[in-house]
Amino acid sequence: MEDRPINLSTNTQVPSVLKVWGETQLQGHVTVSGAKNSALAIMAGTLLCGDECRLRNIPALVDINHMGDVLSSLGLKLNRQGDILDINAQDITTSKPPYELVSRLRASFFVIGPLLTRLGVARIPLPGGCAIGERPVDLHVQGLKAMGAQVRIEHGIVYADIPGSNNRLQGSNIYLDYPSVGATETILMAATLAEGETRIENAAREPEVVDLANFCVAMGAKIQGAGTNTITISGVKSLHGVDYSIIPDRIEAGTFLVAGAITRSEISLSPVIPEHLTPVIAKLRAMELNLVTDAPNCLRVIPNSLRGMDIETLPYPGFPTDMQAQFMALLALSEGDSVITETVFENRLRHVAELKRMGANIRLKGQQAIIRGVSMLTGAPVAATDLRASAALVLAGLAAKGVTTIQGLRHLDRGYDNLEDKLRQLGARLERVPQEEQDLPRDETINV
Ligand code: UD1
Repeated sequence: MEDRPINLSTNTQVPSVLKVWGETQLQGHVTVSGAKNSALAIMAGTLLCGDECRLRNIPALVDINHMGDVLSSLGLKLNRQGDILDINAQDITTSKPPYELVSRLRASFFVIGPLLTRLGVARIPLPGGCAIGERPVDLHVQGLKAMGAQVRIEHGIVYADIPGSNNRLQGSNIYLDYPSVGATETILMAATLAEGETRIENAAREPEVVDLANFCVAMGAKIQGAGTNTITISGVKSLHGVDYSIIPDRIEAGTFLVAGAITRSEISLSPVIPEHLTPVIAKLRAMELNLVTDAPNCLRVIPNSLRGMDIETLPYPGFPTDMQAQFMALLALSEGDSVITETVFENRLRHVAELKRMGANIRLKGQQAIIRGVSMLTGAPVAATDLRASAALVLAGLAAKGVTTIQGLRHLDRGYDNLEDKLRQLGARLERVPQEEQDLPRDETINV
């Protein structure tokens, strides 16, 4: 995969840590990149047709590179110029990506649906759990089985085949026990080339699911109801290539809104789709933050002192689990008490211990974090435990007194397009330095 150079700690011999200087005042404008989770699903979606697809607004991320490697291993031709990625799936040479590649990125499992529906066969290694939870794929598998696929799991590999002579999945009514984003995307992609109509009930409503559906529709798929809890797909015989632009990343946008709020700074960001940020904006406003819409796709944060607030993570349009850690950092520095309840993933509160190292007053009770706001955090050596936790530590570090040193940067590189550069342009001081020079709490290695 041809790629523009990005400075990634994973590519260097000596692991780096990030030093963040605190008590920062930010000012200026941020350009929001394309949505990671849309881009990953849509990259998998290019397997659905034999023509070339041009994807625009692709963010520069390690996760995107990993997905590119998975697609290349299947025989696809990829060519990237800046934020444009051309993918040609004319010749698929194998239905089995290697475990070493799939295990680097959970979302690479999402190739199972398009691969199976296009080739009639898919052999996908199970991606395994990750830092935030076990993350099974049972709902993906149940959906494919309901469409007539024969699926068995042996030696850590999911073997999926379409029996019979016509090599097509059969449309079906599928009720998801939980509105899983990944399972909805797998079934949606598989159903585009199935025979007959598929209805997904209790489907995920996330904007990234809608983006994937729009991409498939642009390729000639027949899909209705994406963005509601019932999606109907009428299978077609084939799809064609498209030129498609990915939506802006609502989680990156939300992270910058919190950056403005936590540093009590006025910053603006675009492009954003404010509807995608409804729960985030609602919570920030309830905390008494001033948010102004300068133009339909531009938001501005106006600094204010903030008060505590209870938050429960939920499937969209509920509050996103991917914003939970960043809000934890913000609530730690807000007036009064807050309770955060994590309901989506079972192990996504590990950043609590790191924020406490910085002076946050947080108590854990099962899946709840009880936060008593403090007036000041202090810089400390901390470890990023997952992608969004790493962003939360950067945000906390920007506001804290003194210098915060963050290790585990591979998490940050996975999912934020040039976060450090974007923050520097707003006036923040951050620097990557070799790990050896630092006095670190421990060497934490977690597979994601
Ligand atoms: C996607 C996002 C991730 C986000 C999450 C929830 C991508 C690449 N990642 O992940 O950033 O945090 O949505 O908004 O889009 N589950 C099952 N069985 C399954 C599938 C899921 O039990 O077959 C469970 C998971 O373990 C988890 C919950 O459902 O507890 C939500 O997972 P899901 O919505 O599938 O998230 P992902 O698609 O993995």
